[in-house]
Amino acid sequence: MDMKNIWAELPKGFTVLAPMEGVTDAIFRQVITRAGRPDLFFTEFTNVSSYASEKGRENALERLKVVATDRPIIAQIWGKNPEHFGQTAAALADLGFDGLDINMGCPDKHVNAAGGGAAMIRTPELAMDCIRRARAKTELPVSVKTRLGYTYVEEWRTWLTTLLKENLAALTVHLRTRKEMSKVPAHFELVEEIVRLRDELAPTTKLILNGDIKDLWQVREMREKWPGVDGYMIGRGVFENPFCFTEHIGTTEELLGLLNLHLELFDAADMEKLAKTAERMREDAEFAMRMDGKARGLAFDPLKHYFKIYIHGFNGAAELRAKLMECKNTSEVREVLAVLAEKKAS
Ligand SMILES: Cc1cc2nc3c(=O)[nH]c(=O)nc-3n(C[C@H](O)[C@H](O)[C@H](O)COP(=O)(O)O)c2cc1C
Repeated sequence: MDMKNIWAELPKGFTVLAPMEGVTDAIFRQVITRAGRPDLFFTEFTNVSSYASEKGRENALERLKVVATDRPIIAQIWGKNPEHFGQTAAALADLGFDGLDINMGCPDKHVNAAGGGAAMIRTPELAMDCIRRARAKTELPVSVKTRLGYTYVEEWRTWLTTLLKENLAALTVHLRTRKEMSKVPAHFELVEEIVRLRDELAPTTKLILNGDIKDLWQVREMREKWPGVDGYMIGRGVFENPFCFTEHIGTTEELLGLLNLHLELFDAADMEKLAKTAERMREDAEFAMRMDGKARGLAFDPLKHYFKIYIHGFNGAAELRAKLMECKNTSEVREVLAVLAEKKAS
C-alpha cells in the first residue's frame, strides 16, 4: 500500500496549529475550524509507552481521537522506548491520521526526566532509533518537532544536521533552546542558515518555523522574507486571537459564539463518555468497582483553561472570567453568560 505524503500536498508557506497539551484536543480543533482553520492540525502529544501498555491505552486513544473536520492532521507522540514508538506508529494510520510527529522539544521537567521531549537532543542515537523504529512500522510520513539545542544556541547546527540526515518528511524548529524555554525572543536571525542547511542535506524535508509567530499577517511577511521556508506553526497566538489563521480579529460577540460552541461540543463529548463508561460498567464488574459504581464523563475543571481565550479585550472581561472560574459545570457557565446577555440588552 502506497500512502500519500500529506506534507507534499500542502501549499507553500502553509500554516499549522502547534500541538499544545491540554489545549489542542478534538473539541478545540473543531472550535478553530469554525473560526478559520490552519492548513494542518497536530494533536496534543501522546506518550508511546502509555499507548503500549494495557492500562494506559484507553487514555492514549482518547487523546488520539480524530473528527472528520480535523484532517489533514498529524498525531504527535513522545517517549524514549523505540519499541513502543514502533507499536504506536503501527496503529496511527487506522486511527485516521495523515502523519506522525515525534516530540523532541518539550522542556517539561517530568517529560525530560523520563528521557522524552527535549531530553532526546542529548541522546541523539536513541532519538534516531526511535525515528527509525516508528518509520519501520508505518507508511505514514514521519516528522520531528524540536528546538535549536538543549543548553546552547550553538548546538543547532550539529543537532539539526543529525535530524536532517534521517530524511524526515518534515522538521519543525522551535527557534529556541530547551534552556531558554519561552523566555527569550525566538532566534529568527538563524532562519536563513537553517534553510541553507536543509537545502544542502535534505531538500525534500519540509521546514516549518515555530516560536513567536502570532497570526496570518505575520506569516505573510515571513513568506516574502523566507521563500525557502515551507510552513509556519502558530501556538500561543491562538490564545490572543482564535481567528489568527484568517486575517480577522474576533469581535466580542464572535468570541462568545466560539465559547458557546466549545460548551456544546464539551457537553456532547461528556454525554458520549458517560454513556460509554456506563455501558462498560454493565459489562465489566471489576471496572464498575473501580469506578465506585458511578459512570464518569469529562472532567469540568480543564475546560476553565479556555475561558481566557474567549473572554478578553472588553470592559468587565476580568470580572466575567472570575465569575466563570467559580462555575462547577456547563449549566452554571451558561447561566453566567445569560446574565451578561440580559445586561447588554437592557
Ligand atoms: C500550553 C502549551 C502546551 C504545549 N504542549 C506541547 C505539546 O504537546 N507538544 C509540542 O510539541 N509542543 C507543545 N507546546 C509548545 C508549542 O507547540 C510551541 O512550540 C511553543 O508554544 C512556541 O510556539 P508559540 O510561540 O507560537 O507559542 C506547548 C505549548 C504550550 C503553551
